[in-house]
Amino acid sequence: MLVTIFLLLVALCANRGCGEDSEAVQRPGHVSVIVVGATGDLARKYLWQGFFQLYVQQVGSGHTFTFYGGGLSPAETATPVLFEILKAVSCSKDVSQERCAVLKEQFLRVSQYRQLKTVEDYQDLAKHIEQQLRKEGMTEEGRLFYLSVPAFAYTDIAEKINGTCRPAGGIWLRVVLEKPFGHNYRSAQVLATELRSFLNEDEMYRIDHYLGKQVVSKILPFRTENRKALDPIWNRHHIERIEIVLKETLDCKGRIAFYDEYGVIRDVLQNHLTEVMTLLTMKLPANVSDSGEVLRNRLQVLNSMLPLGKNQAVTGQYQAYKTEVQQELNKTKDHVSVTPTFAAVLAHIDEARYEGVPILLISGKMLDERVGYARILFKNNVFCIQNHHSVHCKPKQIVFYFGHGSLQHAAVLVSKNLFKPALKDHRWKEVTEHTDVSVLGLHISDYYVQTPIKEKEAYSELISHILAGQKNSFISTENLLASWGLWTPLLMGLTGSFPRIYPGGADNGDMLDVHLRGKEIHYNSEAVIIGVDQIGGASANGFQVMRGKFRSADMVSAWTEELVERLAVDMEEAAEAAVNEGSVFHLALSGGSTPLALFHRLALHHFSFPWWNTHVWMVDERCVPPTEPESNFYNLHEHLLQHVRIPYYNVHPMPVQLNQRLCVEEDGGALLYEGELRKLINGSSFHFVLLGVGYDGHTASLFPGGKPSELGESLVTLTESPVKPHQRMSLTFSAINRARRVALLVMGKGKHELITQLSRVKDDSNKYPVTGVKPASGSLVWYIDYDALLG
Ligand code: BG6
Repeated sequence: MLVTIFLLLVALCANRGCGEDSEAVQRPGHVSVIVVGATGDLARKYLWQGFFQLYVQQVGSGHTFTFYGGGLSPAETATPVLFEILKAVSCSKDVSQERCAVLKEQFLRVSQYRQLKTVEDYQDLAKHIEQQLRKEGMTEEGRLFYLSVPAFAYTDIAEKINGTCRPAGGIWLRVVLEKPFGHNYRSAQVLATELRSFLNEDEMYRIDHYLGKQVVSKILPFRTENRKALDPIWNRHHIERIEIVLKETLDCKGRIAFYDEYGVIRDVLQNHLTEVMTLLTMKLPANVSDSGEVLRNRLQVLNSMLPLGKNQAVTGQYQAYKTEVQQELNKTKDHVSVTPTFAAVLAHIDEARYEGVPILLISGKMLDERVGYARILFKNNVFCIQNHHSVHCKPKQIVFYFGHGSLQHAAVLVSKNLFKPALKDHRWKEVTEHTDVSVLGLHISDYYVQTPIKEKEAYSELISHILAGQKNSFISTENLLASWGLWTPLLMGLTGSFPRIYPGGADNGDMLDVHLRGKEIHYNSEAVIIGVDQIGGASANGFQVMRGKFRSADMVSAWTEELVERLAVDMEEAAEAAVNEGSVFHLALSGGSTPLALFHRLALHHFSFPWWNTHVWMVDERCVPPTEPESNFYNLHEHLLQHVRIPYYNVHPMPVQLNQRLCVEEDGGALLYEGELRKLINGSSFHFVLLGVGYDGHTASLFPGGKPSELGESLVTLTESPVKPHQRMSLTFSAINRARRVALLVMGKGKHELITQLSRVKDDSNKYPVTGVKPASGSLVWYIDYDALLG
C-alpha cells in the first residue's frame, strides 16, 4: 500500500512543480551539487565551507553527494584553484583531527571542477551526472545549482539548466540565487518573469543570508515559545519602538563598482533588515515549520506597511567614499556620487496592532562599531524615586543580538523586568556567567541571556535548509516584489538628495543621530542639507538659489555666479535700508581672492549702490605697504574702489604703516583704527561685515592657535598668521559680533572639505575661529557656492 502511494506521488511529480511536497515521501538519495562561480569570492569564503558542513552532517543519513565546481575558466586552470579552496575547509571543534582529515579526503574525492560556459558544457554535465548514477547504481534525489555569479547572468544560466540539466520526474531541481534581485520593483519584476520562464517558483531559492543567522531564525520560535508572555505586550499599547540596526565599520573599498549602483538601502535595508522586520511583526503561524503560512504572513506585513517617502529617511555618505569612487571608477576629481552609505528609515505598519509604533531600520558603513541587532523597546512608565538602579526603572527590552559589538556573539536578551523566557530548543542554552558588558543601555546581568550552544555560519545553515527544502528560509517572488514595492517609492523620492557627509568612525560623534517627529525622521543636528532637485531644477527653470541652514545660521547656496549676484543684491538692500535710516552705510570688507568676484559685480553695477553714503572699512590687512599687490587695500582699490563714486574720506584703510614701519605695536595702529571706528560708527556696530574663511578655519585675520577668543573688548588687534606675510591687523570678534549683519562667503571646491568639517564641529573659536562669529543681536548668513557645499 505504502509503495503504491509512493509510486503515485512520484508519478504525479513527473511534472515540474512538485518539489516541495515531494520531499515528504522522498528517501535520501544522491544529490548533485553544482556551484556556478565556484572560485569566486562568496564561494571561497562561505559556500564551500557550507557544503562541506552539509556533507559532514549527512554522513550516514543515506544521502550521497557529488560536488561540481563550475565556472567559465577551462578545467586545466581552474581545477587547481578549486582544490586549493576545498583543501582549506575546516571541521567544527567537536570533530577530531583524524576524523576531519578523513572527511576532507572523502569530500575532495567527490568534488570536481567543470567548465560551464556553453550549452554543450551543461549537456555534458547532465550526461556525466546520469552516467555516474548508472555506473554506481545510485538513486537520484535532486540537483542543486548554486548560482554564485552576478545577477545579469541568471537568466542565461537558468535557461541552460532548464534546457539541459532538468532531472527526470520526481527528482527535484533547486536553483539558488544570490542578491541583488533587481535594483527596484520594475527590474526585479523583469528578472522574476525571465526566471519564471525557465524555473518554477518552488525550484528557486533566493538567499538572504540574514535568514540563516541563528538569532534571526530564532525570532519566530522565540515568539512562539513565549507566546503566553508576549501576546499581551506585543502591541502598540506596550511597544515604544522597534529598532533593526546593522552598523559596520568597514568601508566600500574594492566593491565600489557594485556599491555605487546600489547603496545601503538596496544593499542592506531592502533585504536583510526588511526580512528581520517581517519576522518580528508577522502574525504568528499556527505551525512555525509550515513554509507556506510563514511566507504568507511575512507577505502580509509587507503589504500593510505605510508607504515610505523621503520624509521617512535620512541618508549619509562617509567622507572618503567620494575618493574611493573616483579611484575605483576612474572618475575625475569633480565627480560627485550621491550614493548613500548610511540610512535611517522610519517605517510604520498600518495595522491596529502596531498603529503608531515606530520601526527604525538603520544601517551604515564606516560607523563607530560593528554590531547588528533587533530591539523591541517596551514602554516603561515606572519612575523610581530613590533607587534608580532598580531593575524597574531600566529599559524594558528584548534584543535579538546578531553578533559582534560588545557581546561578540549571537544571543537573545530579555530584560529581567519583562519575563523569564522559556527555553525549549535543545540547541540553545541560558547563560548566567557574564563578563562585565552592557548591551543597549543595560548591564548584561539585567538580562536573561540565551545563546546557541554551537555557533553556526549563516550560509551553512541555509545550505542545509536547501537540502531540506525549507522554503520559508528563502525569499519567494511574491515577497521579493512586495519588498521592492515598499522600497522603490522611497528610492525614487531620494533621487538626487544629497546624503549628509560624515567623517567615519568615532569622529561621526552625534552627527548621524536622528529624531522622530510624528511619522517623519530627521537628523537631530543641523548641517548641510541640500537636494539636487533644487539644484537640478535650478538651471532648468531659472530657480537658481536655494536657502537652508548651516551651523544653525541661514545659508544661501547657488552656483558661483548666482551666489555672488545674491550677495550683491543683499548687500545693496542692506545699504539702502541703512541710508534710509541714518544716511550712512558702514561696510567692512575682507581681503583675499574670494571676494574679488563680488567686488567686480559691485563695480559693474556701481550706479545702483549708494556709494556716496557708504563708508568702506577693512576687516583685516596684511602688514605690507598699501602699494604692494599683497595688500588687501591694494586689491580693494584695484577691483572696487577706483570704479565707484565714493568720497575719499569714506574710505578707511587699516593703518599698518606708521612711522615708516609696519605693524609695530608701539605705533598704536590698531588703537588708532579702533578709535576711528568708535568715533564714526554708532555703537561701533557695522551695518554689514563681509567675511571669508581660510582652509584652516580662520576668518578675518584671526587664526587657530592665536587665541582670538581672548582678545576681550578691543575691536582691532595685531595678529600673527602661520603663512606669509605673517603680521596682520584684524577686527576682533568683539567688533565683528556687534555687526547688524555678517555675511560669510565661501566658494570653490577646495573649501568643500572644510565645509564638511565645519558642518559637524562644535563652536571652538580657538580651533576654528570662524565658529566664533556669532553676531550678538545681528544676523549671520553663510553664502556657500555649490562647489564648496558639494565638492
Ligand atoms: C551583505 C552586504 O549582504 O551583508 C554587505 O552586501 C554587508 O554590504 C553584509 O556588509 C552584512 O552582513 P553581515 O553578515 O556581515 O552582518
